[in-house]
Amino acid sequence: MPSNTDFEISRRGVLATGAATLAAGTMVPEAAQAAIPGPTTDLAPTMMPVTLEVNGQSRQLTLDTRTTLLDALREHLQLTGTKKGCDHGQCGACTVIADGRRINACLTLAVMHQGGKVTTIEGLGTPDTLHPMQAAFVKHDGYQCGYCTPGQICSAVGVLAEIKAGVPSHVTADLSAPVEASNAEMRERMSGNICRCGAYSNILEAMAEAKGELA
Ligand code: FES
Ligand code: FES
Repeated sequence: MPSNTDFEISRRGVLATGAATLAAGTMVPEAAQAAIPGPTTDLAPTMMPVTLEVNGQSRQLTLDTRTTLLDALREHLQLTGTKKGCDHGQCGACTVIADGRRINACLTLAVMHQGGKVTTIEGLGTPDTLHPMQAAFVKHDGYQCGYCTPGQICSAVGVLAEIKAGVPSHVTADLSAPVEASNAEMRERMSGNICRCGAYSNILEAMAEAKGELA
C-alpha cells in the first residue's frame, strides 16, 4: 500500500520531468538559430507614378503601390466627397464610377487604374447644375445625415447604366428579355449600399424618378 510520502515524491518527480522536457523542447540548436530570419527591417514603400483622369481632369500622382483608390482620392487629391465607411467593401460609402462601372474604391488599388477614368460625386454635377440623380435625391429627400449619399448616388447612376446595358441581376426573371428598371431590380442592385439612417424608400423613389432621364 503506498504511503502519502510516496505520492508526494511521485508528484515532484512528474513536475521536474515536465519542466526538463519543456526546456529541452524550447532549446534551438545554434545552426538552426542562424537559419531563422530576423525581423524585416526594409519596410520602405514601393512608389510608382500613377496617372488618372478624375472628373475629366488628368491627375498625376506618385503613390505607394499599396494605396487604395479611395485613399488616393481622399488623401492625395482632397476629393473628400467619397466617404470611407468600413474600408472593407461592406457599406458602399466609397462607391465611385471607374471606366463606366460603379466600384468600391476601398477594394481596389489606385495603380490598378493607371490611365483610367474615375468619376466621383464631385464630378457628377455642380451645386448650380445638379446631375439628374442628385436632383432626384434632393427632391425625394433621399438622405438624412448624408454620409452614405455620395456613394448611394454614384451607385444609383451605375445601376441605371447597368440596366440600360442589359446586365442581368440575381432577381432578373427572364434573361432573354430586356432588363426593366423595376423596383425589385433597383433594390437588389443597391443592396450593397448601406444607409444607417434608413432612407431606402426615398432613395428608391429618387431612382424611379431619375430613371426616366437616365435609363
Ligand atoms: Fe468601401 Fe465601405 S468604405 S465599402
Ligand atoms: Fe445617413 Fe444614409 S443618410 S447613412
